Amino acid sequence: MAVGRIVADFSGSAVLITGGAQGIGFELARYFVDAGAKVAVLDRDPDALKTAWDGHGAVRTFALDVSDAAAVTAAVDEFAAWAGGIDVAVNNAGITRDTVVWKMTDEQWRSVLDVHLGGTFAVTRAVVPHMRRAGSGRIVNVTSYTGMHGNVGQANYAAAKGGIIAFTKSVAKEVARFGITVNAISPNASTAMVAAIPADRLAEMTATVPLGRFAEPVEMAPAVAFLASEQAAYVTGVVLPVDGGVSM
Ligand SMILES: NC(=O)c1ccc[n+]([C@@H]2O[C@H](COP(=O)([O-])OP(=O)(O)OC[C@H]3O[C@@H](n4cnc5c(N)ncnc54)[C@H](O)[C@@H]3O)[C@@H](O)[C@H]2O)c1
Repeated sequence: MAVGRIVADFSGSAVLITGGAQGIGFELARYFVDAGAKVAVLDRDPDALKTAWDGHGAVRTFALDVSDAAAVTAAVDEFAAWAGGIDVAVNNAGITRDTVVWKMTDEQWRSVLDVHLGGTFAVTRAVVPHMRRAGSGRIVNVTSYTGMHGNVGQANYAAAKGGIIAFTKSVAKEVARFGITVNAISPNASTAMVAAIPADRLAEMTATVPLGRFAEPVEMAPAVAFLASEQAAYVTGVVLPVDGGVSM
């Protein structure tokens, strides 16, 4: 079977994905569209959104910054009204602003925390009431190996991704009684974010992957689809590495 082929049926489901104009988020959105879902793509890049999604009837795009909580809430509510609720939310949008901590500016620190942690919080707070009303829901967050183990030059990113893991577990405990699960994946995929890593460092990183390569972004989709599916009703508060074995 080709990578990224449909493993579950999401016909009639409403799926919201942040950072879906490119990279992993784009492939996740494409996967859910192919699986029959109505999809909201929230991304701060209006041109990339247009290029990626113009003309797709099953997709509503929202050009916004996920750290803008008011804009997120408005988009979530508008999408829920259009799609008839929200079944799945994937908090994927992310940035890096790498430098060692003694050179890190306030802007580099805050922007990374705001986008990853602030965005994940804003979307989660906005979707939970819709999921509570439905008596079910799936939230999938995107964390990182760096959030578990740290990395030189990424104290801001590690703090944000580590925070997302703690946030995932806390919210999973809070909303379990409403039939809502909250999980995370920890990916490793060739995207623009990875292309920005200096070549020598990237070669070192690739050498540490037991499966010997970075994944194609589409290879993240089946894992997210599983966590987003009815079949994963008894799975909550976990971090699923989809990383070629790096975190073993
Ligand atoms: N690629 C990897 O190997 C890897 C590894 C670990 C974690 N991750 C995580 O996976 C997620 C996706 O990363 P990617 O590699 O696809 O990156 P990418 O740079 O290709 O895509 C990120 C997307 O998020 C959007 N975005 C950024 N800031 C935003 C904001 N404030 N509001 C709305 N949208 C915003 C961008 O416009 C872009 O479309 C990120 O959370 C990243 O930290 C990636």
